[in-house]
Amino acid sequence: MLLLLTLACSSSTEPAPTALETVDVATDPAAEAVALAKASEGIKAFGGALKSKLLEEVGKGDAVVAASVCAQDAPAIAARVALDKGVIVGRSSSKLRNPENAGPDWVQAWLADNQAEVRPAGLSEVVDGEARVLKPLYIEGPCLTCHGPAESLSDPARAFLSERYPDDQATGYSMGELRGAIWATAAVR
Ligand code: HEC
Repeated sequence: MLLLLTLACSSSTEPAPTALETVDVATDPAAEAVALAKASEGIKAFGGALKSKLLEEVGKGDAVVAASVCAQDAPAIAARVALDKGVIVGRSSSKLRNPENAGPDWVQAWLADNQAEVRPAGLSEVVDGEARVLKPLYIEGPCLTCHGPAESLSDPARAFLSERYPDDQATGYSMGELRGAIWATAAVR
């Protein structure tokens, strides 16, 4: 029986493994720790740069300028972090403003699983040779300027958002609510 199985497994008629199949990746705990640390650093760099830019602009008082700066700067900051740190970073949500922010499937799966949770823990794990780190994002005071109930937004902000994001789902939040997540991946080498 064992022999049969062995033969069956080495049979040349077996289809070649596809990219979607789980591949055994040699696990090296030290390399995994390095990749996880890199991904965490990427999250800190991306989140920190984005938030300080956003708060600076909100502080200046014009929500529309702030929103457009935020919309243009987020991808640029993400690209810079990717170059500097060799990680891929992004922000996502189960109620997206920009559909391009959906992110990888594992991020969407985490969001779906945790939407109803109170203060869910994030993620830090290695799957198939990829370090994945995710940090939940909650609504704080300044976020309400652009993510609060639609009727509470300023007229210019509402106009800007509805023109630029016709399918915007990211209003109607209240303080402390789970808005989404910031995530990063780094290859284990
Ligand atoms: C000045 C307006 C403004 C403020 C304030 C603001 N956001 Fe946003 N937010 C936006 C815009 C515009 C986008 C879409 C950016 C894009 O096109 O990628 C966005 C996108 C996001 C996304 C990405 C997912 C998606 O829906 O596209 C997350 C997560 C997010 N915001 C969280 C927050 C949090 C948390 C705060 C408070 C710390 C905050 N935002 C404050 C305007 C704002």
